[in-house]
Amino acid sequence: MDLFDKLLQKRGPLGQYAKDGHGYYFFPKLDGEISNRMDFRGKNMLVWSLNNYLGLANHPEVRKADAEAAAQYGLGTPMGARMMSGNSDFHEQLEKELSDFEKKEDTILLNFGYQGMVSAIDALVDRHDAIVYDSESHACILDGMRLHIGKRFVYPHNDMAQLEKQLERATKLVAETGGSILVITEGVFGMSGRQGNLKGIVELKKKFQFRLFVDDAHGFGTMGKTGAGTSEEQGVQDGVDIYFGTFAKSMALIGGFISSDKQVVEFLRYNSRSQIFAKAMPMPLVIGSLKRLELLRTRPELKNNLWEIVNALQKGLKDGGFNIGTTQSPVTPVFLNGSPYEAAAIVHDLRANYAIFCSMVIYPVVPKGVIMLRLIPTAVHTLEDVNYTINAFSEVQSKLKEGKYNTEPANISTQ
Ligand SMILES: Cc1ncc(COP(=O)(O)O)c(C=O)c1O
Repeated sequence: MDLFDKLLQKRGPLGQYAKDGHGYYFFPKLDGEISNRMDFRGKNMLVWSLNNYLGLANHPEVRKADAEAAAQYGLGTPMGARMMSGNSDFHEQLEKELSDFEKKEDTILLNFGYQGMVSAIDALVDRHDAIVYDSESHACILDGMRLHIGKRFVYPHNDMAQLEKQLERATKLVAETGGSILVITEGVFGMSGRQGNLKGIVELKKKFQFRLFVDDAHGFGTMGKTGAGTSEEQGVQDGVDIYFGTFAKSMALIGGFISSDKQVVEFLRYNSRSQIFAKAMPMPLVIGSLKRLELLRTRPELKNNLWEIVNALQKGLKDGGFNIGTTQSPVTPVFLNGSPYEAAAIVHDLRANYAIFCSMVIYPVVPKGVIMLRLIPTAVHTLEDVNYTINAFSEVQSKLKEGKYNTEPANISTQ
């Protein structure tokens, strides 16, 4: 069979919806300045879909720094991979500032968080080593695992008893192979908003020998007293051996970093394939990151604003009888019961009649019959936004119970 013909038939779990949902439910285009209100198909909407946690995307100081850096250096600078020709004082300064902020000895910048994570896992372990990881880990961790040719052991999400069992197995295995154990989890799980039980895992170091690698994409900037992340929040910064953060969320940029002991970061600098064999992060992004990190560190009001909105939204939803799961972070899931088509009808109703733009998550990410609407509060939302949304959600919940969204798939509107 011709490959292209095969691809036409086998669309993939999300691709199956592309024909009808493209441009509306998937790949929607939001226009205008990034804020709590943006335009979708010409209509101004209250947006709860952006990981712009601290509201930095459109902060005037950030916009100024980005523009000046782009004017001075252009987007091409520096040329080449950092190892060959693309290193600069700014790249090293950013690494130094991130290390200080994360209280680690050293840091390596990643052009993209995702590839950086995949490559780091690939580089850190070999066939003698074992990885033990949380079952709800992000796709980039799972992709990193695909490159791992040694053994891997999964434990049910945050289940410390099962983690202990898997550590026993892994310990036996590495005693035979002469390898080491790497435990990988997330700081904040991006779908449920739950925190990884970092404290519990660090506690297990008393019984087992392993190193802990934490993907804190959603925790960096939002969690902990200074915003250093979930490890700070749980008081275990020292126990997290390798800390990963992305610039794509709180920092509202692109790229990421890994902070750890000096020798680990040096090892990654010389062995992480996605960084060695790829062009360095452009200068405006590095300078833009420095400005964002400065604001993240020195303007606590940004995180305070975020949490005021988070607390109001989560309390309001709970008081309104909504199931928001067990989130312990800004990520706010709202669980409803219904089919994927009812989910689409709800999202459409929210956009068309309430001017609320939020993302929906359906099977296979959540169990069959469950609809998850995912709200991401930010520092630029207002308490009025929160109240308006809770009222709208209450009406939607009533309509769902009355069966008003129970429509034929063919009737799902994308207009
Ligand atoms: C938990 C987690 N890890 C890693 C990534 C990938 O980071 P990036 O967007 O910087 O590539 C994401 C998504 O952005 C994420 O949610």
